[in-house]
Amino acid sequence: MKGILLAGGAGTRLYPLTLVTSKQLLPVYNKPMIYYPLSTLMLARIRDVLIISTPADTPRIRELFGDGAALGMHISYAVQEKPEGLAQAFTIGRDFIGDDSCAMILGDNIFYGNGLYHKLERAAENAGKGSATIFGYYVEDPQRFGVMELEKGIGGDEKNIRVLSVEEKPKNPKSNYAVVGLYFYPPGVSDMADAVQPSARGELEITTLNDMYLHEGRLQAELLGRGFTWIDAGTFDSLRRATDFVYMIEQNQGMAISAPEEIAYRFGWISGEQLAESAERYGKSPYGEHLRAVLEDRIVL
Ligand code: DAU
Repeated sequence: MKGILLAGGAGTRLYPLTLVTSKQLLPVYNKPMIYYPLSTLMLARIRDVLIISTPADTPRIRELFGDGAALGMHISYAVQEKPEGLAQAFTIGRDFIGDDSCAMILGDNIFYGNGLYHKLERAAENAGKGSATIFGYYVEDPQRFGVMELEKGIGGDEKNIRVLSVEEKPKNPKSNYAVVGLYFYPPGVSDMADAVQPSARGELEITTLNDMYLHEGRLQAELLGRGFTWIDAGTFDSLRRATDFVYMIEQNQGMAISAPEEIAYRFGWISGEQLAESAERYGKSPYGEHLRAVLEDRIVL
């Protein structure tokens, strides 16, 4: 399974913060925003990742992660010239994806919660059987998102959710379940994406792509329940909430979350020496100290 991390877009909703900086490199408490979605892909055991961003921001992100060797991964980069829609990621990524299945995560989406791994594992299994998987999260303001309509009476944390429709930012949402920015697709997604036509707002919508899978009877959904946190950190308000959330969790437990080097080490993708080298890179920062604590086994999970 391959992974795409889509980290482009103009970020106009965060001006002036993003006038000369990439949104996905802004801080969410003590780390660049992009560390969080990268960690989520890693938790899905995805080691081969394509990061897609703007012409200006791609070189900066490359400086951060290089070829991914320090994480025991293979990270490559592609440029999206203009933000023409999320579904374009799969045509840009056609050669990278090849004949594989592929997950995509948005660079401003933050996921945190127990049991995520099992949901990701099931989504990867679905992809192996030819189906796409989307994830739903209960929100107060569904008209701001893609929305999934569910079979009546469904809510909470059930498995095998049947989706009746998906709509992008509907005026009259058919449910409170937002489709979050994490998607799993079976082999052939680039060909499907080729057939996506621009929407009324002129974008190649991911929701159109998901609707195509739905019509072929190949769309599965999982709900992320109340014990779960999902934040699309693309507005001032949600960015602030994301920072507060990470701060609260890290202070509460006294350890860092979403540290890619730690995940790589715990999964056995990198050696202790490599982790020590990474800790060096972060110097005397609390993040570097956290990596040293992991290495010296001072944090036993
Ligand atoms: O966050 C989840 C939502 O993401 C979904 O519920 C929606 O269905 C989906 O369309 C998307 O909605 P947004 O309004 O958040 O889309 P936005 O245009 O803000 O793009 C999402 C991220 O992807 C953003 O960080 C910028 C980046 N992006 C966007 C476009 C359109 C790109 O890198 N390239 C693009 O072409």
